[in-house]
Amino acid sequence: MATRRQFLSNSGKLIMGLGASSILPATSFSILSGSPNEKLVIGLIGCKGMGWSNLQNLLRVENVECKALCDVDQNVLDQRAADFEEMTGQKAVLYNDYRRMLEDDDIDAVIIATPDHWHCLQTVHACQAGKDVYVEKPLGKNTDECDVMVKAARQTNRVVQVGQWQRSGKHWNDAIQYLQSGALGNIRVTKSWAYQGWMESIPVKPNQPVPEGVDYDSWLGPAPDRPFNPNRFHFNFRWYWDYAGGLMTDWGVHLIDIILYGMNVDAPNTVLSTGGKFGYPDDAMETPDTQQAIYEFDDFSMIWEHAAGIDGGPYGRNHGVAFIGNNGTLVIDRGGWEVISETETDSDGNPQNIITGVETTQSNGEDLYNHMQNFVDCIKTRERPNADIAYASNTAVVANLGNIAYRTGERIEWDHQARKITNVNQPNELLKSDYRNPWKFPVL
Ligand SMILES: NC(=O)c1ccc[n+]([C@@H]2O[C@H](COP(=O)([O-])OP(=O)(O)OC[C@H]3O[C@@H](n4cnc5c(N)ncnc54)[C@H](O)[C@@H]3O)[C@@H](O)[C@H]2O)c1
Repeated sequence: MATRRQFLSNSGKLIMGLGASSILPATSFSILSGSPNEKLVIGLIGCKGMGWSNLQNLLRVENVECKALCDVDQNVLDQRAADFEEMTGQKAVLYNDYRRMLEDDDIDAVIIATPDHWHCLQTVHACQAGKDVYVEKPLGKNTDECDVMVKAARQTNRVVQVGQWQRSGKHWNDAIQYLQSGALGNIRVTKSWAYQGWMESIPVKPNQPVPEGVDYDSWLGPAPDRPFNPNRFHFNFRWYWDYAGGLMTDWGVHLIDIILYGMNVDAPNTVLSTGGKFGYPDDAMETPDTQQAIYEFDDFSMIWEHAAGIDGGPYGRNHGVAFIGNNGTLVIDRGGWEVISETETDSDGNPQNIITGVETTQSNGEDLYNHMQNFVDCIKTRERPNADIAYASNTAVVANLGNIAYRTGERIEWDHQARKITNVNQPNELLKSDYRNPWKFPVL
């Protein structure tokens, strides 16, 4: 198995010829070597849902191999170890504690696909251990976490790609190129939404003994201590404030990210939000099944809306983004994009489309793979990746502000440079973390 030193030293070749501004500072490994057979060696932390999809796609990239898997649920780890052996014909080294995996010098990079409340500590620790990182979205649970994660990545010169894979998708980039051509005229409103019928209501369940094989204390990590409840565990942790932020931060970061990217902005000036448990008032979710948030930017507004358990979103799409301009509206989702033209009256008094002949594109189904390819390319070149940690930090902060506005009922005024809510005192507490002992918020 090739070492990190070999992989990265070979990759130093690709640094030549790139613009300096986008390149991470060279590492001590950026000296040339030769063999075309060198491998990027990775480890996976959090193996169940998205972690496994990420690994499958990363292993499709040339010269990448996985050495180790880590999970705090031995049942998941055993299953994935078997899946891995079937997929690759190899046995992975197995860990329950990610810190032990990070000690392995053979490992160049890690995928972190644990629940949201773990992203910050694991990313900071991985950067400090010299690993490049692919971490899932949302980057962090709050502004403080996002800030310290960016600081760790920059201090250690690590490549950190975040799982906002739409940024590497061809049809998403085609649509943004069209948007930025100005053909839609002044963009006045943007919308993004997730109506997710498959994310069904979850019935209330009693607390239960911790399942055999689960290191529950390590699953909780920095989150508050509480008895085990199956509703708060795998996948459904999304619906609990201790671990995540509901659909607002789950799908919100994917789609709001496209608006920030397309409109070339970092953050809004104000946010207000409303919603509630309107669909399933008595079910077990803490986060609202129905929510709207309105964000004001300098010269346009952005609307987010979500509904868990139903599919009837705007424009007949159960998720998407719309850029609404004077000449027409661009609508895009994971399947493709279209432009709906405004009309003007011709000399005969008939309505005519202002926009005609747009060559739209459909998804080629390779967005996640392209995102992984971009991650590997950037590990070689030390360029910033498509969903660099700084972009993902903005997106996570913006989505989290929607939740703060919802939870406080305040219209939040936001100073993005100062990282402060300026019009009310108390909600600034929601920008910070309170880690459970013995876990400590990283001080860098
Ligand atoms: N980018 C995307 O399209 C996308 C899609 C789905 C999920 N996600 C993100 O992926 C993350 C995981 O979501 P999921 O649905 O796969 O969750 P999941 O519950 O299916 O899997 C999480 C896994 O992490 C493990 N884990 C928890 N704490 C751990 C620790 N300290 N060390 C090692 N393993 C640990 C769990 O036991 C579990 O196996 C979330 O942040 C979610 O937002 C991203």
